[in-house]
Amino acid sequence: FVHDLLSGLNVLITAGPTQEALDPVRFISNHSSGKMAYSLATAAMEAGASVKLVSGPVALETPDRVERIDVISARDMHQAVLENIEGVDIFIGCAAVCDYRPIEIQKDKIKKNPDDPSETLEIKLVKNPDIVSAVADLESRPYVIGFAAETQNVLGYAADKLRRKKLNLIVANDVSDGDIGFSSDNNEVTVLGEDFEEPMPRASKKVLSRKILKIVARRFRKWKRE
Ligand code: PMT
Repeated sequence: FVHDLLSGLNVLITAGPTQEALDPVRFISNHSSGKMAYSLATAAMEAGASVKLVSGPVALETPDRVERIDVISARDMHQAVLENIEGVDIFIGCAAVCDYRPIEIQKDKIKKNPDDPSETLEIKLVKNPDIVSAVADLESRPYVIGFAAETQNVLGYAADKLRRKKLNLIVANDVSDGDIGFSSDNNEVTVLGEDFEEPMPRASKKVLSRKILKIVARRFRKWKRE
């Protein structure tokens, strides 16, 4: 691994899940552990970058020499990213941001009707801001890498997100296999750019992070020159 691969560069990474509150005691979320993003942060720091993590709630220790900003919801994450984007050279959206949030947060705990076993409860959701797209739309934008967590047509949907979200690169992650992706220490991904596709066989998130950053560093330099 090359230790000055990213020296002098500022890297911002989103990590973990977001939590979208329903009421004071409940939320909607997903299974992201933050391991992939924290591995990327460690690898970027080891490669010489100044690294900031904007992190949803996870049970991981902050990597050495990485600045961590904790957030809860997608809207908090969106705001924290925009507040910290100035001077960022490379942005990596690795967080599993909840696409929707409950339309309103109930002030008090939602109570069930104890006398009605067939009671149903409907929760209306509204869309959250798309953080990676917001960064890609900035006038003076960094080099933007997204992830795509998919359970079917993985490369097809990833290529679609690459274009639609105006990303420079996307890391396609098949999350239908429980041994990789969410929460696992291992992963298996394909890095896609407009003109290439690089499959990376199953390995630890640490090893994959280093491989992903090698591609990022090379492509970032080419993009800068253009
Ligand atoms: O955290 P781990 O347990 O280690 O698991 C790793 C991982 C599976 C979470 C990670 O590898 C991964 O795939 N992260 C992206 C998960 C995801 O939300 O994918 P998506 O296909 O729904 O989103 C596409 C891209 O848009 C992502 O870069 C995502 O961060 C971004 N996004 C999505 C929605 C939104 N509102 N804002 C965003 O920025």
